[in-house]
Amino acid sequence: MRVSQLWLDRQLTHAAYKTAQARVPVLLGRERKTVRTQIGIVGAGPAGLVLAHLLHLQGIESVVLETRSRKYIEERVRAGLLEQGTVDLLIETGVGERLQRECLTHHGIELRFNRRGHRIDFDDLAGGKTVTIYAQQEVIKDLVAARLAADLPIIFEATDVTVHGFDSAKPSIRFRAAGNPEELHCDFIAGCDGFHGICRPSIPAGVLTEFVREYPFGWLGILAKAPPSSEELVYNYSERGFALLTMRTREISRLYLQVPSDEDIEAWPDDRIWSELRLRTAADGDWKLSEGAIFQKNIASMRSYVVEPMQYGKMFLAGDAAHIVPPTGAKGLNLAVADVRIMSKAFAEFYKTGKTHLLERYSETCLRRVWKAQRFSWWMTSMLHRFDTDNAFDQRRQLAELDYVTSSRAASTTLAENYVGLPW
Ligand code: FAD
Ligand code: DHB
Repeated sequence: MRVSQLWLDRQLTHAAYKTAQARVPVLLGRERKTVRTQIGIVGAGPAGLVLAHLLHLQGIESVVLETRSRKYIEERVRAGLLEQGTVDLLIETGVGERLQRECLTHHGIELRFNRRGHRIDFDDLAGGKTVTIYAQQEVIKDLVAARLAADLPIIFEATDVTVHGFDSAKPSIRFRAAGNPEELHCDFIAGCDGFHGICRPSIPAGVLTEFVREYPFGWLGILAKAPPSSEELVYNYSERGFALLTMRTREISRLYLQVPSDEDIEAWPDDRIWSELRLRTAADGDWKLSEGAIFQKNIASMRSYVVEPMQYGKMFLAGDAAHIVPPTGAKGLNLAVADVRIMSKAFAEFYKTGKTHLLERYSETCLRRVWKAQRFSWWMTSMLHRFDTDNAFDQRRQLAELDYVTSSRAASTTLAENYVGLPW
């Protein structure tokens, strides 16, 4: 359903929104059951929080609903690598101060195979763009702090969240806050509730088309009290499977191992993890894996997934709610930020001029970038992992691809420009 069809009976004026917004935090604290805002945002992950921040800067009001506690979302260990565009956006919008102080800027990555490392030099190949290591939960902390400092609403530990009326003129979100039923009336709903959220499944059957690719492996990720073994990230192709050496700070390493998709974490005591990492990252010369106490361990499954369109009526999906990439290449969080940047511009145009042009093109605009990131993530994953069906031909082909990518300037440039992030 097109946004413009739904928009004709818009009721509230800008002044009324302002008044409603001013009352939101107060109303939610009292017994009042209904609240009004402009954009109801479901989910306080990177997509939801960046969107709320960008909207605030444009003078557009929103309420963020999150099922988890503040502590939980601020400690959830996930991504760590930010594209140049993501970093620029956070800095330009005033939430990049700690990021600038604490981040690690990287000017290249290493691809390691046949016991030799090959550097992809971003300064040379990607027009001086860089990537940045700064953990996702730190981005979350900065955004939550900025929102609360501005006295803007985030409802943590919201339960029984359901979305309604997004195919009519009156969307709303029902939920319980501290056990009390509440209803948030809004002009639009932003579904930023991740892959397992409720927004996407609430869209009527037959509207969305899903595109899926499953992989027969996942990543076992650890955090260890060990200085990074190398200055830059190392993507390792080995006969035993893929391994990635990355980091969080100068004292903490983040390391990943390809494991079967149904693997039990109990099968991986610390000694086994280190011995497998040593084997998969082995290199000629005096390079040595830096080891230390493991203080976090988990296994993440891998899939490629896209839903089209990313909008239905007055509900707009962003980030993992609409698409998932396998982590190789680190595109997930960055795509979430790219989506909400486009969404915030579309809402801004609408509230400034009443035009729905950008809202109508939201899905199409996002999907162009999404599919390029899908292609890149699938390609990196396919080149670097061992597949169940691998045979000697496939291994030779993968090695030839790695050889080509690291020896052809054209191929290295392709990798570099995708890795640092395609232009917005
Ligand atoms: P989420 O982060 O999933 O946020 C959704 C939020 O919605 C959550 O807080 C959830 O609690 C909340 N929620 C869910 N249901 C409801 C509901 N019913 N009501 C209210 N709230 C709800 N990406 C990168 O760009 N770079 C990387 O280096 C990288 N590395 C990764 C490594 C691993 C091991 C993994 C697993 C992922 C990695 N990613 C990476 C992907 C990245 O973490 C995700 O793409 C990103 O978190 C997506 O953000 P999001 O806001 O769309 O979704
Ligand atoms: C990280 C994760 C990735 O998936 C990746 O490709 C690079 C870095 C990280 O967690 O640091």
